[in-house]
Amino acid sequence: MKLNPFLIKGYVSPEYFCDRKSETNKIISAIKNGRDLTLISLRRIGKTGLIHHVINQNEIKKNYNVVYCDIYQATNLAEMTRIFGNAVFNQLEKTSDKILKKLGRFFAGITPSITINPITLQTDIDFKIENSQQAETTIQQIFSMISKSAKPTVLIFDEFQQIEKFPEKNTEAVLRTHIQQLNNIHLIYSGSSKHLLSAMFSDRDRPFYQSTQLMELGKIDKAEYCSFIREKFLSGHINIDEKTTEKILELTRSHTYYVQYLCNRLYEINAGTGNRIDDKKVTEVLITILRENESYYYGYRNLLTEQQYTLLKAIGKQDGVSQPSSKEFITKYKLGTTSTVSAAIKSLLNKELIFRENGTYQVYDVFFSLWLKLLN
Ligand SMILES: Nc1ncnc2c1ncn2[C@@H]1O[C@H](COP(=O)(O)OP(=O)(O)OP(=O)(O)O)[C@@H](O)[C@H]1O
Ligand SMILES: [Mg+2]
Repeated sequence: MKLNPFLIKGYVSPEYFCDRKSETNKIISAIKNGRDLTLISLRRIGKTGLIHHVINQNEIKKNYNVVYCDIYQATNLAEMTRIFGNAVFNQLEKTSDKILKKLGRFFAGITPSITINPITLQTDIDFKIENSQQAETTIQQIFSMISKSAKPTVLIFDEFQQIEKFPEKNTEAVLRTHIQQLNNIHLIYSGSSKHLLSAMFSDRDRPFYQSTQLMELGKIDKAEYCSFIREKFLSGHINIDEKTTEKILELTRSHTYYVQYLCNRLYEINAGTGNRIDDKKVTEVLITILRENESYYYGYRNLLTEQQYTLLKAIGKQDGVSQPSSKEFITKYKLGTTSTVSAAIKSLLNKELIFRENGTYQVYDVFFSLWLKLLN
């Protein structure tokens, strides 16, 4: 069966991946030149996809061991160590490297249980790491082993901001101590919480201070995305003109996940029909999506005070606002006083329901923003 070419999760192959050529080169160059790198962007812009695209390049596959750790689920150092250990173990299975094989035996020593996940068929090892002291020792041992490998290692920590939530406040220091000494391990940290990650790497008093190259991932180039979208629709015998493609990008603010999702649904309905997608079809599918998501949006509403919700709605209706404390904005949407507005802004930023970019506040979730604007 033919795959819907608009992926809404995971990475499959370059065929389904739009552009990011210069970003890919930039990351590869950092790796080759021995610089650790931190990748930051809004949620759902494409950090994880880009990382997988990079490690899928022959140049990387051939010359490096790659260890990818998504630490989103980790709530403490022990859990992170487990994820790290698992990722290393999975890499071992693919390698002929003798040192790494030895590391496999080391894991076997501390982990009696090795299971095969019946769904993914992946081997899971179960570390019995009981406390952070044990975790630190294990991390040290893993680093020491992989540093002896014949090939250099690219080690990726995705969702790295998670370590801010660990009870162990020394996680950064623990990692930094090992990483600093090993020049055949190249680190990529990736995460979406800009203020957390920026502080981690740019605050003088913290272990990671200026230790990595910061790379902010922006949106995919419009012209590149336009031709990608048209080509993928055409592969399903669907026509769409440039103007309508631009409309899709405009409605979704070119925010990768939302572009992909809207196109995925349009493809689903029209594939093989020889249809032409016009603005009307785009709007219809968009409204269907917004209606489907409605119960999530009511959920958000219940988490907010009336003041906060009114402000959020106003930002959505306006498609973003640069001066929420201006008299005109406050009067138009009956928002009360400037101080209640600034308190509400702070709270909405904290809850990641809005974000600020180029001086404009916007509702973070693009579909929610459209729902506030069109259906509320
Ligand atoms: N260059 C691309 N071309 C096509 N689709 C992409 C591209 N980059 C990412 N995607 C798709 O966009 C969606 C979001 O991407 P991804 O998960 O990589 O974002 P993220 O920034 O890691 O998000 P999060 O912050 O939530 O982890 C995914 O469905 C992914 O398949
Ligand atoms: Mg991600």
